[in-house]
Amino acid sequence: MTLNRRRFLQASGAALTAPGLTACGTEKVPTTGVPRSGFDEDATAELVTEDIDLSGKIAVVTGCNSGIGYETMRVLALRGAYVLGTSRSLERATEACRSVRGVTTPLQLELGDPASIIACADALRSLTAPIDILVCNAGYRGGGNQRELINGIEKHFAINHLGHFLLVNRILDRLFFSWQGRVVVVASRTSYRDTPDKGILFDDLRMDSDYSDAVAYGHSKLANVLFSRGLARRLRGTRITSNSLHPGVINTEIDRNMNGFLQTGFGLLTALTGKTIAEGAATSCYVATSPSLGATSGKYFEDCNAVTVIDSYHNDDAMADRLWELSEKMVGEHYITHERPDWSEFENGLRKPRREDK
Ligand SMILES: NC(=O)c1ccc[n+]([C@@H]2O[C@H](COP(=O)([O-])OP(=O)(O)OC[C@H]3O[C@@H](n4cnc5c(N)ncnc54)[C@H](OP(=O)(O)O)[C@@H]3O)[C@@H](O)[C@H]2O)c1
Repeated sequence: MTLNRRRFLQASGAALTAPGLTACGTEKVPTTGVPRSGFDEDATAELVTEDIDLSGKIAVVTGCNSGIGYETMRVLALRGAYVLGTSRSLERATEACRSVRGVTTPLQLELGDPASIIACADALRSLTAPIDILVCNAGYRGGGNQRELINGIEKHFAINHLGHFLLVNRILDRLFFSWQGRVVVVASRTSYRDTPDKGILFDDLRMDSDYSDAVAYGHSKLANVLFSRGLARRLRGTRITSNSLHPGVINTEIDRNMNGFLQTGFGLLTALTGKTIAEGAATSCYVATSPSLGATSGKYFEDCNAVTVIDSYHNDDAMADRLWELSEKMVGEHYITHERPDWSEFENGLRKPRREDK
């Protein structure tokens, strides 16, 4: 990708105002070695999970009170999973959980606040049960081109990437004990269309130079994809998978911080070219539940299929590693190093009886 083309795509992204709407020109190919789903952009979350029984599974969905996260929680619960849904406000999480069929529990989670993340992780850990599915769905998108910082870090990066990085880290051992744990990271096409030229801005995480909401959002979404890829590499040899995705372009509350004019533009564009919310949650639900993806990890999905974006930072393992190391440093003392279980001691998700147990 040349600098000019990248700049052009960014500019058109900002002009269109919608996250992920810079639709022209990027080359994508089906990812080799990943089964094709038979679903496309018209599939809904209910359709892709039609024959799937999630009874006995535990799922966590961040940002369950709105848009794609709400639909993801609703459909996972409909299929029998026990879903723990998070929102910044316990009241909104409770309201959302109450309104869906199935078994759900609300939790409070503010991804910009390490104390809130740790409290939420501790609540999840107190279940002392395996977590089978973790959908890192919550996302923030600014609207006024006014840079904001959280603890000295640009706000999109702090919430969308670092917040989920810490949450996943704090509950990873609960996923180890699932029969086949899945981490699903809701990223965006902006991860290759609206990123800074250099990819992750390792030397400028405050984004002191050249700030725009579109690029800051794309930057955080690239971090989502690279985090998911880095996690997959670190989970090699375990039964946990980690994949990321673009949900589509959907008229949710993601434009809440934009001004009225831009919101109208976003509304028009999504009405003309976007997906419904039911379709928008399809890729998350597919990646979280499809039996055909049990061994698929480190991949990026669009419209329920894995795609490789040519000439993007998605596939840059060195950048993913550097991001991981930096993120680890940034969350500092909150980061936990988990011991991996000895897999030979397990069968069908249960610890085999030990000689001394008999
Ligand atoms: N809609 C699209 O066109 C589109 C395109 C590409 C990617 N995505 C991604 O899809 C995901 C879901 O977005 P959506 O479209 O469903 O938008 P949405 O309706 O605005 O939902 C976003 C969710 O994230 C939560 N959230 C925001 N800031 C948070 C924070 N600081 N801490 C914890 N939770 C926070 C929101 O909670 P509150 O309601 O409490 O703020 C809400 O539950 C996001 O990751 C977004 O980036 C969306």
